[in-house]
Amino acid sequence: MENIGNQSDKEVAVVTGGNRGIGLEVCKQLASNGVTVVLTARDQKRGAEAVSILGKLGLSNIVFHQLYVSDPSSAVHLADFIKENFGKLDILVNNAGIAGTITEISNPETFRQEVAGMDRTERLDRIRKHTMEPYKQAEECLRTNYHGTKAVTKALLPLLQSSFHGRIVNITTHSGLLRFFSGEELKQELNNIDNLSEHRLDELSELFLKDFKDGQLEHRGWPTEGGFTAYKVSKAIMNAYSRILAKEHPSLSINCVHPGFVQTDMNFQVGDLTVEEGAKGVLMMALAPKGGMTGGFLNRTEFASFV
Ligand SMILES: NC(=O)c1ccc[n+]([C@@H]2O[C@H](COP(=O)([O-])OP(=O)(O)OC[C@H]3O[C@@H](n4cnc5c(N)ncnc54)[C@H](OP(=O)(O)O)[C@@H]3O)[C@@H](O)[C@H]2O)c1
Repeated sequence: MENIGNQSDKEVAVVTGGNRGIGLEVCKQLASNGVTVVLTARDQKRGAEAVSILGKLGLSNIVFHQLYVSDPSSAVHLADFIKENFGKLDILVNNAGIAGTITEISNPETFRQEVAGMDRTERLDRIRKHTMEPYKQAEECLRTNYHGTKAVTKALLPLLQSSFHGRIVNITTHSGLLRFFSGEELKQELNNIDNLSEHRLDELSELFLKDFKDGQLEHRGWPTEGGFTAYKVSKAIMNAYSRILAKEHPSLSINCVHPGFVQTDMNFQVGDLTVEEGAKGVLMMALAPKGGMTGGFLNRTEFASFV
């Protein structure tokens, strides 16, 4: 990468899970907009390959740093790197995420043929039919999508506060909205941001896993309909965390974005949208001028409610 170090005049961004899918596209578009991008990935080789691919497109303002979001010490190493080389961070895109499932689909190409011509609901149903949600994967899902996002955010927060205009974009999903919870109490608690604390969110994450283990998900009203329950809960809790953080740090701009149903490995490339289309809302928030929305939610590129 050219000119690494002391670029306080240039904007600097970190993207988690930047080696493929939506994360890779966000890195590409941020770099194309003149932002210096720290593309992170848990795997050194996959991350370096992604930087090399973008470099071949003429994007030299991208550097790789390893980041395994579910290991808090990994985020601390990244923060040290950013501090040493840039002294501040302007944009954090928390993109890394997992579905918390295992699948029988061994050949994505055959699967794509199987669902060709089906509408979105049918395609999602078909993915679900081939999907299992064991406890181990549910736990990993909460650990990555909620606790991981939180650990990375906490480690990088002081550097975002050193920026003139610090922004965090948390990539969420429409299916993590509170309307999918059947339990009124849970729904209200997760929406009552003034009374929620990070500590309570950690407790809710534990409570969910306990209910999952005990086969008690319906009893409390977790979002079981249509499956992917751990994924929905992890994103709903992450959304609430994002809103709490926005309230605590009014000088920053902290928002959540649902990219749409995007063709990536997460859905065996059977989404409706290209990664370019999916990245639009993310870029909108990442490059928004100072003084804009904070604590909000974009459904693709439209402002929407967390409920
Ligand atoms: N695709 C959609 O339709 C859709 C819809 C709504 C929301 N989203 C959200 O968009 C985000 C990106 O998803 P995608 O569709 O681009 O999925 P993807 O192609 O499966 O990419 C996921 C990325 O996250 C990384 N990752 C997973 N666990 C990680 C960990 N513990 N530490 C560091 N990196 C980790 C993966 O790294 P490896 O390559 O090493 O596995 C990969 O780079 C996710 O948060 C997802 O929930 C996607």
